[in-house]
Amino acid sequence: MKSYSIFNKSCYGLPELKKNSIDSLITDPPYGISFQNNHWDKNLPDKKIWKDAIRCLKPGAFGAVFSSVRLMHHLMLDLENCGFIIRDVMFWSYLNGMPKSRDVALDIDKELGVESKKTGEYKYVQGYKKDGAPSYTINKNTKHKREPSSTLGVHYKGSGLGLKPAYEPIILVQKPVAKNYSVAQNVIHYGTGALNIENTRIPYEKGEGKVGHNPHPKGRVASNLIRTDAFNDGYDKFFLVPKVRQHAEEFNNHPTLKPVELMHHLVKLLTWEDQHILDPFMGSGSTGIAALELKRNFTGYETDKDYFKIASRRLEETSSKIKIREQKT
Ligand SMILES: C[S@@+](CC[C@H](N)C(=O)[O-])C[C@H]1O[C@@H](n2cnc3c(N)ncnc32)[C@H](O)[C@@H]1O
Repeated sequence: MKSYSIFNKSCYGLPELKKNSIDSLITDPPYGISFQNNHWDKNLPDKKIWKDAIRCLKPGAFGAVFSSVRLMHHLMLDLENCGFIIRDVMFWSYLNGMPKSRDVALDIDKELGVESKKTGEYKYVQGYKKDGAPSYTINKNTKHKREPSSTLGVHYKGSGLGLKPAYEPIILVQKPVAKNYSVAQNVIHYGTGALNIENTRIPYEKGEGKVGHNPHPKGRVASNLIRTDAFNDGYDKFFLVPKVRQHAEEFNNHPTLKPVELMHHLVKLLTWEDQHILDPFMGSGSTGIAALELKRNFTGYETDKDYFKIASRRLEETSSKIKIREQKT
């Protein structure tokens, strides 16, 4: 059984972690977009956390940092300015993103002092923690469906500001290998410096012709596109992971919960068994669960006491399941 340590406090400084002691950084930090009005998502993390991470990571260690389409350029610069090499950007694609565009035609009606037409009603359910509130608020509002009434509003009917989101970027970074070391020397010395390609190959579909001069029996190298839905037309070449839904009333109500299967993929790609993974923004602990299930050690930080409770419970359940499994074998 691998070990884990989790802290209900801010990650800044990472004082519990020694220099050059961690094999990988896998994290889903605040995106800085106030997602669903959550106070902790107002700003991107202060870049000092990336300097702290560089201190704790072993030379050559890889990291995967989730981000948002709108602010990934800032986060990438912060990571680079703090010493990381940007290796790639993976796209986690899905079909059920919600477009959140404003209805500009209704805004035009308002601006002109004309009341828009009411055409029906719908229920709007939203869970969030506003301004550091101690517990979750669940809003269940009835809202009106509306159509523009003014002549200009009708002309601009259907105009908006945003597209339907269909991917989240995951920035793949690396701490440079040790000075004057080749990649091989770095891997021999620290066990870091390479991706675990072998562990994440995408098997060929039944009947599919193998590609290349020397096809690998386990399948293709994993791509930088990950999908949540089964597509036709050759999309079976990409790693498939179903999206999880947040259920406000249920045990895990974290609004940006990541699927454990997605975290499995990243853990398998970035590390080997027995290595140690850090998530400074662990939320409800999905990275930690994937780490333990795949025989890696884990350290996580979370400031919010409710999310921390959820993470500790999920990690305890995972470790008990693993202990029972190990006792049986
Ligand atoms: C995007 S969420 C992570 C969700 C996680 N991937 C999951 O599956 O549950 C980011 C988390 O970082 C936490 N956070 C924000 N600032 C923090 C800090 N300085 N130290 C530790 N955690 C922090 C927030 O409370 C939030 O739960």
